[in-house]
Amino acid sequence: MVVSDGLVDLRSDTVTRPTPAMRRAMAGAEVGDDLYGEDPTVNALQDAFAERVGMEAALFVPSGVMGNQLALRVLTEPGTTVITGARQHVVLYEQGAGGGHVAQFHGVPDHDGVVRPAYVAWAIEAAEIAGDDETRPGLVCVENTHMAAGGAPWELDDLRAVRRAARRLPVHMDGARLFNAEVATATPAADYCAEATTVMCCLSKGLCAPVGSLLGGPVEVIAEARVERQRMGGAMRQAGVIAAAGLVALETMVERLAEDHARARRLAEAVAERWPDTGDPGRARTNIVTWHHDGPAAVVDHLRSEGVLAATIAPDVLRLVTHHDVDDAGVERAVKALATAP
Ligand SMILES: Cc1ncc(COP(=O)(O)O)c(C=O)c1O
Repeated sequence: MVVSDGLVDLRSDTVTRPTPAMRRAMAGAEVGDDLYGEDPTVNALQDAFAERVGMEAALFVPSGVMGNQLALRVLTEPGTTVITGARQHVVLYEQGAGGGHVAQFHGVPDHDGVVRPAYVAWAIEAAEIAGDDETRPGLVCVENTHMAAGGAPWELDDLRAVRRAARRLPVHMDGARLFNAEVATATPAADYCAEATTVMCCLSKGLCAPVGSLLGGPVEVIAEARVERQRMGGAMRQAGVIAAAGLVALETMVERLAEDHARARRLAEAVAERWPDTGDPGRARTNIVTWHHDGPAAVVDHLRSEGVLAATIAPDVLRLVTHHDVDDAGVERAVKALATAP
């Protein structure tokens, strides 16, 4: 078990710590002033990511939230709406920052993580028909994988259908866990990104980098995002020190996500065994297991007493997230604890 203070921490993949290879790369990183565009390691990371996902350009940002917010800021106009799954991170977990960037959200059902093209088409058509009465949509935003839907990865055809339904509207993909989707569905990240205007991807979750996310998109959009990043105070000077870990993440940590997915399936099976009516092992397709329970606090307390940390993401929804810092022994400890949970 590789968990600080002896606990099996399944609250989130954000708790991962940098690997020894990352720490070595960080110690030896070449750096410069990134506000002048002179940090060679940041530049290498941005180029490597852009190439990996088939985007023209990329920008290194401190967090996934900032990457999403830059996309909203740059791609929307004042007074327009963002058509988005109702439970997406950009709606529920970014402290209302979207509102501060002038857009408001038009939330549509995202029960299984997928935004139905019919809802996108409807939102656009309704605004056209209503004319001045209806707020004009300016952006479609999807989340891949979809956290609240239990880490559900998108099928490429579903994304293509949304892209078509969006017509001329830009599409932003919150790909905080894009590479989990790539590994789970064998769809290259670049194929997903071909259906989006911009993509945000986190290096600091399952890929284990200590800090940082990337925003990819067309050259002119990324140039604009760079200006907005500075406006938000997000330019980081000698950021090569952390970008170096990001390069290791991108180059060496993607394929191993399959191990996290296998461990999540093991946990999902344990959930299904303990609560046969609520668990569905097939649902855990990446590294996140969610299930309904009327008294989640009692389950969290019980798991904690057995040395396992879990999270709740709704009044009746529990979540376990597998990652690099939880091994098979840790998962078996969680399986045992789940078996005796209230
Ligand atoms: C789907 C999704 N998008 C965006 C973010 C934001 O990333 P960060 O915590 O780096 O700001 C998260 C973080 O958990 C996430 O799960």
